[in-house]
Amino acid sequence: MSNNNTSNILLQLLLFFLGSGAELDDGGELQTLLTIKRDWGSPAALSSWKVRNSSSFSHCNWAGIGCRNGQVTSLSFHNFQIANLIPASICSLKNLKYLDLSFNNLTGEFPTALYSCSALQFLDLSNNEFTGKLPEHVDKLSLGMQHLNLSSNSFIGDLPSAIGRFSKLKSLVLDSNNFNGTYQGAAIGGLVELEMLTLAYNPFKASLIPNEFGKLTKLTYLWLS
Ligand SMILES: *[C@@H]1O[C@H](CO)[C@@H](O)[C@H](O)[C@H]1NC(C)=O
Ligand SMILES: *[C@@H]1O[C@H](CO)[C@@H](O)[C@H](O)[C@H]1NC(C)=O
Ligand SMILES: *[C@@H]1O[C@H](CO)[C@@H](O)[C@H](O)[C@H]1NC(C)=O
Ligand SMILES: *[C@@H]1O[C@H](CO)[C@@H](O)[C@H](O)[C@H]1NC(C)=O
Repeated sequence: MSNNNTSNILLQLLLFFLGSGAELDDGGELQTLLTIKRDWGSPAALSSWKVRNSSSFSHCNWAGIGCRNGQVTSLSFHNFQIANLIPASICSLKNLKYLDLSFNNLTGEFPTALYSCSALQFLDLSNNEFTGKLPEHVDKLSLGMQHLNLSSNSFIGDLPSAIGRFSKLKSLVLDSNNFNGTYQGAAIGGLVELEMLTLAYNPFKASLIPNEFGKLTKLTYLWLS
C-alpha cells in the first residue's frame, strides 16, 4: 500500500511540474518541430510553424502534422516544395509512425537518418530525387514497417536481400527507378503479408518471375514490366 501511495504522490508531483510549463507538456516536441523547420531551411510550406501563444499542443494544428494524445504521430508533407536532405531531427519525434515526403525535391542517398525513427510504419519517399543504391542494412529501418514507397526516384543497383526482413510489409512500391541489378525474388517471396508489389519501370537484370512469388498469397496488386 505504501508503495502505491508513494508512486501516486510522485506521479502527481511530476504532473504538477510538467503542467507548470507549457514547453514541457509535450515532451519537447514543439521545440523538435522548430528544429526540423530550421534544419530544412524554413521552407514556405512550413510558415504556419510558429509559436503564437502558450496554449499547449497548438503545434498539433500546424500544417502537415498529425497528433494522437498530444504526441506527433504523422508528418504529411506531400508536395511541400521541400528540397535537400532529410534532417536527423525528425526521429526525435519518438511516436512518429507515418512519414509522407512524396512529391518534393529531396536529394542524396537513401536517408539512413530515418533508422532512428523506431516507431515508423509508413514511409513514402516517392517522386523525389534520391540516388544511389539502397543500403545493404536497410533493415535498420523500423522492422514494424508496413508500407514502403520509393517509386519515381533514381535509385540504382540491386535490391538488398535485407528487404526480406520487413515481415509486416503490406506494400512495397519500387517502380520507376533505375534499379539495374537483381530483385532478390527469394527475399521478397518471404514477405507473406504483401498486398501490393510494384517493380515495373526499372532496368532490372532480365529474369523470370521467381517461383517464390507464389508464396505471396495476400497479393492483390502486382506490377512488373
Ligand atoms: C492559441 O492558438 C490556438 C491555435 O493555434 C487557438 O485555438 C487559441 O484560441 C489561441 N489562444 C489564445 C489565448 O489566443
Ligand atoms: C523542384 O523540382 C521542380 C521540377 O524539377 C522544379 O520546378 C522546382 O523549382 C523545384 N523546387 C525546389 C524548391 O527546388
Ligand atoms: C506510395 O505507396 C503507398 C503504399 O505503400 C501509397 O499509400 C501511397 O499513396 C503512394 N504514394 C503516392 C504518392 O502515390
Ligand atoms: C547500374 O547503373 C549504374 C549507374 O548508371 C552503373 O554505374 C552500374 O554499372 C550499373 N550496374 C549494372 C549491374 O549494370
